[in-house]
Amino acid sequence: MPAATHPADPAARPLPAELTVIIPCFNEAANVAPMVERLEAALRGVAWEAVFVDDNSPDGTAERVREIAARDPRVRALRRVGRRGLASAVTEGALSSSAPLIAVIDGDLQHDETILPAMLEAVRGGAEVAVGSRHAEGGEAATGFSAGRARVSGLGARLSAMLLPTPVGDPMSGFFLMRRELFEAILPRLSNRGFKILVDLLLSAGRPLRVAEVPYRFRPRLAGESKLDATVLLEFLGLLMDKSLGGWLPWRFVAFAGVGAVGILVHLAVLGLLSGIPGIGFAAAQWTATFVAMTVNFLLNNRITYRDLRLRGARLARGLLLFYLGCGIGAAANVGVAGLLLQEGVAGWGLAGAAGALLTVVWNYAISSTLVWRS
Ligand code: GDD
Ligand code: MN
Repeated sequence: MPAATHPADPAARPLPAELTVIIPCFNEAANVAPMVERLEAALRGVAWEAVFVDDNSPDGTAERVREIAARDPRVRALRRVGRRGLASAVTEGALSSSAPLIAVIDGDLQHDETILPAMLEAVRGGAEVAVGSRHAEGGEAATGFSAGRARVSGLGARLSAMLLPTPVGDPMSGFFLMRRELFEAILPRLSNRGFKILVDLLLSAGRPLRVAEVPYRFRPRLAGESKLDATVLLEFLGLLMDKSLGGWLPWRFVAFAGVGAVGILVHLAVLGLLSGIPGIGFAAAQWTATFVAMTVNFLLNNRITYRDLRLRGARLARGLLLFYLGCGIGAAANVGVAGLLLQEGVAGWGLAGAAGALLTVVWNYAISSTLVWRS
């Protein structure tokens, strides 16, 4: 049998990569082979490697990558199971690299890989981050974006500009190149959530970075679909908030409390609705409202607060039961503590009630983060 052996001659081995191109992918199977071909064409003369970071896409993205990797040692698949997230995918791709330089490019061919050599030159020439920019002169903003999406993108860019220590024309870009060492130095402070890792890097660096922008034209997507949705925007606002508050109030907690506030409104609405129905006593109405509100809270938390750990199927049912149980104990503690404060004369109705409610939020958050949604 003709075994496929590796050449014994060390000189025949591929050069160690100078540049790792990190390609976050979710359901991009059709774009994998064209991506490798384009990198090959764009990066002649550069010792590059490509890491496709795939979050276990059902469309077989990782398999496509492995087919190519079987004949091209420059190509690797990094497959993550049970997790989702663009920012954390990029981070893990960077951590898998031993090259001095890393680049991040979308796996859907919307970023123009032909500017990679110019980005490389910019960093070799002293820039700390080279950003592929849709807004710099010569670039074309928001090609293929709907009017609504363009507005949201513009709003995000303006918000980031207010907070960023370095002015960047296209801070929302997911297309950039930098030294791996610098990335790893910032990494411990990264929030590492959501879609916008460049904004995160610039906000977490602790000092202004020397940024070089290289213009390009954002291409329309040919295959697959965008993963951006409304909750991505919420998550982005969370990232900005996290960073502007210096991280002392975690975004997850704020999202959890926000969802809790929505739950209170739902509770009151259900109560109001049921009070109009003759024959339903207060206790029954209150129980019903509590269950509806808890369920809505659970589903919203699953979509927003714990988006990256989202539960599905049997784990969703198990999570919901645990959530009911945890919140039930939280509610009992609420009433108990408030009653005690009142009884001891430490606080009046208002203060005792507020203390009880605060205790419940913190308790429910602790249970949710440790038992219900676990990483
Ligand atoms: N591994 C992984 N996990 N990859 C993901 C995930 C995820 O959860 N979500 C998205 N991706 C991949 C997609 O497969 C794609 O290759 C890339 O990340 C960008 O996702 P898109 O869904 O195509 O994003 P977009 O086109 O709406 O957003 C683009 O424009 C932004 C500028 O506003 C991207 O270029 C962003 O990086 C850019 O910031
Ligand atoms: Mn895209």
